Amino acid sequence: MKWPFRHKDRIWRPGNLGRKYDAGDGFRVDASLSDVLEPPGFQQTLNTYSLGEGHVARVWRIYDYLSPLNRSRIEELYALPFDLRFVLHAERIDDFVARQGLEHQRAMLEGQQHFSASRGQLQSYVSQAKLESVDTALRELDGPQRESLFYFSALVQLTCRTREELERQSKEVELAFKNAGFFAVTCDGLMEEAYRSMLPLGRPEIRSDRLMNASGVALFFPFYHAEYVDADGFYFGVHRQSATLVVQNIFKGNGNTVLVGRPGSGKSALFKTIAIQAACYDMDVYLLDLEGEYRPLVEALHGTYVDMSPQGGAHINAMRLDPDDPDGYAGQYADIQALIEVINRNALDPAQASALNTCLTETYRQFGIDVEDQSTWRAEPQPLLENLHTSLESSPNLRERGLHKVGYDLALSLEPYVLGPYRESLSRDTNVDLGNPVIGFGFNGIRDEHLKAIRVFQALRLIAGRALSGKRLSLIGVDEAWWYFGQPEAVAALSAFSRRCRKRGASIWFLTHQPEDFLNSPDTRQILSSAQTVILMNLARSAVQDLRKVCELSDREVEDIVNLSPGSYVLIIRDSEHHVTHHIPVELIVVPRWWEMLDTSYRKVEQAARERQDDGKERRG
Ligand SMILES: Nc1ncnc2c1ncn2[C@@H]1O[C@H](COP(=O)(O)OP(=O)(O)OP(=O)(O)O)[C@@H](O)[C@H]1O
Ligand SMILES: [Mg+2]
Repeated sequence: MKWPFRHKDRIWRPGNLGRKYDAGDGFRVDASLSDVLEPPGFQQTLNTYSLGEGHVARVWRIYDYLSPLNRSRIEELYALPFDLRFVLHAERIDDFVARQGLEHQRAMLEGQQHFSASRGQLQSYVSQAKLESVDTALRELDGPQRESLFYFSALVQLTCRTREELERQSKEVELAFKNAGFFAVTCDGLMEEAYRSMLPLGRPEIRSDRLMNASGVALFFPFYHAEYVDADGFYFGVHRQSATLVVQNIFKGNGNTVLVGRPGSGKSALFKTIAIQAACYDMDVYLLDLEGEYRPLVEALHGTYVDMSPQGGAHINAMRLDPDDPDGYAGQYADIQALIEVINRNALDPAQASALNTCLTETYRQFGIDVEDQSTWRAEPQPLLENLHTSLESSPNLRERGLHKVGYDLALSLEPYVLGPYRESLSRDTNVDLGNPVIGFGFNGIRDEHLKAIRVFQALRLIAGRALSGKRLSLIGVDEAWWYFGQPEAVAALSAFSRRCRKRGASIWFLTHQPEDFLNSPDTRQILSSAQTVILMNLARSAVQDLRKVCELSDREVEDIVNLSPGSYVLIIRDSEHHVTHHIPVELIVVPRWWEMLDTSYRKVEQAARERQDDGKERRG
């Protein structure tokens, strides 16, 4: 026989007479069932077949498995990032037939053993092991919890565009078989049968049956992933292999989440989907919005959008005490110190810290507040940054201790924010209403990067007061995190914040397109390595390589991440209760109507803003 030959050349059918066919066109539009069963472009060699140009496939049959079989091994196979197709065939065996078969096998094996014993030969371990497994199967058949028995067979098909690609990928598939404990061979010389067996007609012509009980067979069917559906979870999308729902709880561990992906890979859309759900579950949602892209979402959820730019009119008083702060005065002191460090662009030395501590208690005392007694914290009015400034400048207490110069210098660095151009935003009492469960902080209109960092810090401080009380679950989004990571003060503030969030029912999300941001400083590295959830969307190969070790990615996952389309990702979630980490391939499927809220294109956001303005004018008119 000559290889390769055309399948059709060998099969005569009346319908073929006088019909032309083209080897390149694969399936025709008007294909009938017979065209599918015997497609016109079908060609085969010993162990490949092709349906036309740009198509070549190979089929393996799995003839044995390493026992014990387990789910993760099989899933590893299903997760191979190739164009793979699996055919599983299970045929229930009647108990009577099964018993007969087994008893026959036992009789044969026992006969062999007697024979070798009679000739004084040692018994073979293999036949002994076989006999034991037959005995076990027989016992199970009669046992109280007996399971049905099946003849089970599995075929695997790999499809590629070229022969070279097929050879390359075949090697990897065979390696994966080996690693997973499967014994498989290509269906040599049976490519026609293999092709037909892979069609969804439910009748494999090639079978290498293996006796298996119901639980063994069930392991192979990837229809339900109980472990990915958590009743208290959020909808993350659909499993890319099994098409089952992925619903995961982000609050089980420390709640920190890192989401990285190229621009346009769908990071913001995923986070927004989660934010909408959090709002529906009556959680608090806080969004730090550098680009002004979250306004439509906040408005759609009837939340409060706080414009943090100087012209936005949002005032936040850093000195205002929070009687509910779980860290008490220590928390307040740390925050003021951190704010001054952000303003100063430098950490305070011991003398500065001491001067600050003295003046802070002094200022609060002037307003009738004892920092050690939380019952006095509700006094009104509360001091302003301005009052702290005055105290630093001229406290007799500091003069006595020889810290006058230190205090004076600190006061000087605070000056632009209490007396100068930024006075409006910093040294006024808080006028932002935090009563709303959904709050967006917009930093879009701030040109001065340093002021932006300070305003971000203030927003974090406000969020911390409420989110860390642990009374309600809260979700905090830091989109475009790369910007924050470029500001040393913001990094320190964020990493301190994420540490405080831990185990307090707050989930903080960092979204960025530059994974290397996380690897640059110990603070950000800590955020990545301690995150309970890491989400990897499409990334450049070099970027994935950077993350490979920290996220424990396999070769296949690297390949997968490099080729992902928008909205698809790998969800890595650590289950601290069971000390396991799940790597789940997910695609976020979004209801079209949600796009009104999720869409992030600047054009759309601008258009929405314009419509809002027009609307306002009309109403006023
Ligand atoms: N789940 C999805 N399904 C289909 N398309 C999606 C999905 N997610 C995102 N997209 C498409 O990708 C576009 C960009 O998404 P998105 O703004 O969320 O990306 P991004 O990663 O946040 O980008 P950037 O880094 O620029 O902020 C969307 O406008 C949408 O067209
Ligand atoms: Mg985005």
